[in-house]
Amino acid sequence: MKYFFLALFLLCVLVVGIGGFRGQLKSERPIEIFPDMDVQDKILGQADSHFFSDGQGSRNPVQGSVPHAGDDGVFPVEFSEGRSGYYYTGAIDDYFGNGMPAELGLDKDNIEAFLRLGHERYATSCAPCHGATGDGKGITSYYGMAGIANLHTKPRETTPDGNIYNTITNGKGLMGSYGATLPVRDRWAIVAYIRALQTAMKTDAAAVVAPSEPSTASN
Ligand code: HEC
Repeated sequence: MKYFFLALFLLCVLVVGIGGFRGQLKSERPIEIFPDMDVQDKILGQADSHFFSDGQGSRNPVQGSVPHAGDDGVFPVEFSEGRSGYYYTGAIDDYFGNGMPAELGLDKDNIEAFLRLGHERYATSCAPCHGATGDGKGITSYYGMAGIANLHTKPRETTPDGNIYNTITNGKGLMGSYGATLPVRDRWAIVAYIRALQTAMKTDAAAVVAPSEPSTASN
């Protein structure tokens, strides 16, 4: 019996020696047999971080971030929710308008970047269904999606820019809406890119004459 108590005493000394008293603060990391992901390679809220040059762990949202389901209905300014005017709706009074809105501030210096933006956004958001050229034969059509619009047919070629903008914003039929995910500027850039695609794919050449001029071209 004596040996048992001696062994028990030594065992307690050993356990306390390795594990330490409970409730005591130590600077070293405790021995964890089952770590349960207590220690993770992450930055806690409001903590410093030397990873970023400004030394802050918390980051500002990237430009164009979409807030998660705002019950208060507040959307950032680059989205059209609850706003009116041609730039935000594609409509002038009761009709769809044509042409790029002045708010885009397009000029010869930024038009190339604008079309590039349209190309990039079209490739990401639209091409999976409408295809890279707009023929409606994107990857989803091979997996059974039916009824995808070919953007090179008459009503889509002649429809006003504002109608295409509206389709992007609110969706149509089987097509979902992009009003909450694509900023207004990106939507117009896509419209401009679709117009470029349509013009480039046009093969039905026809002579266009101004009404007041003679109808025979002489060159
Ligand atoms: C999930 C597949 C899918 C995606 C992604 C998609 N569309 Fe569509 N789109 C459709 C379908 C299907 C229709 C036909 C809708 C109908 O008429 O019922 C359509 C119709 C259209 C039309 C013709 C509308 C009309 O008035 O006839 C346009 C223009 C259009 N889409 C543009 C776009 C643009 C721009 C994007 C990217 C922002 C896009 N779509 C993304 C499936 C898609």
